[in-house]
Amino acid sequence: MNVLKFNNNEELSTKAAEVIIEKIKATENPVIGLATGSTPERTYELLVEKYNNGEVSFKDVTTFNLDEYVGLDPEHINSYHRFMNERLFDHVDIDKNNTYLPNGLAENAEEEAARFDALIHEKGPIDLQVLGLGLNGHIGFNEPGTPFDARTHVAALVESTREANARFFDHIDEVPTDAISMGIGTILDAKEIILLVQGEAKADILRQVVQGEITEDVPASILQKHPNVTVITDIEL
Ligand code: GLP
Repeated sequence: MNVLKFNNNEELSTKAAEVIIEKIKATENPVIGLATGSTPERTYELLVEKYNNGEVSFKDVTTFNLDEYVGLDPEHINSYHRFMNERLFDHVDIDKNNTYLPNGLAENAEEEAARFDALIHEKGPIDLQVLGLGLNGHIGFNEPGTPFDARTHVAALVESTREANARFFDHIDEVPTDAISMGIGTILDAKEIILLVQGEAKADILRQVVQGEITEDVPASILQKHPNVTVITDIEL
């Protein structure tokens, strides 16, 4: 794994936006994998700024998001559909028909997960996948113990993840218990991956991810085996 250390969130977000823009420019019909959470928020703002400055167009870009909560309407204030529309898609020239997230309202969530995985296979491979890191080492919603070869599936959120994400909801009881998440196997199919990690609270887990044993107890540790991963962080390892 290649690790790029920056001084603060602004610098790491600037780098992440640059990597995404370079990939879009260098690739015909680029397929970009996107993440939600607090970490990439500034990166998406910068992409919108750069689009407004004429530095990048998203018209030929296809996107796949990592995950969506089961049971949330796409319009729900905390759905990842809404997050992506408000942070990025509504402000750039992307064709929304080419932006894919799992449908959290599907009648059969397992079937929806399989459909989403097949769609990535059909439209992919993903040229560049953006990842954040959970406090317990999760990527997407692949919690500790998830098999490394898992495809997109229905994932039960562990209590610490629901607690971490409760800050976006009025009450922890409103945080869904399940999500549809790209599996680790699906994520590893991406040609290139950037892992964005911001803030001292994630220093210990990032050290385990980069320098520790490769173990399903630390889902992101498998990234050590991927040939093209760059960690973009403000943490000193
Ligand atoms: C969430 C998401 C992940 C995200 C992670 C970290 O639960 N499912 O995709 O990367 O947790 O989030 P944050 O960037 O807010 O710390």
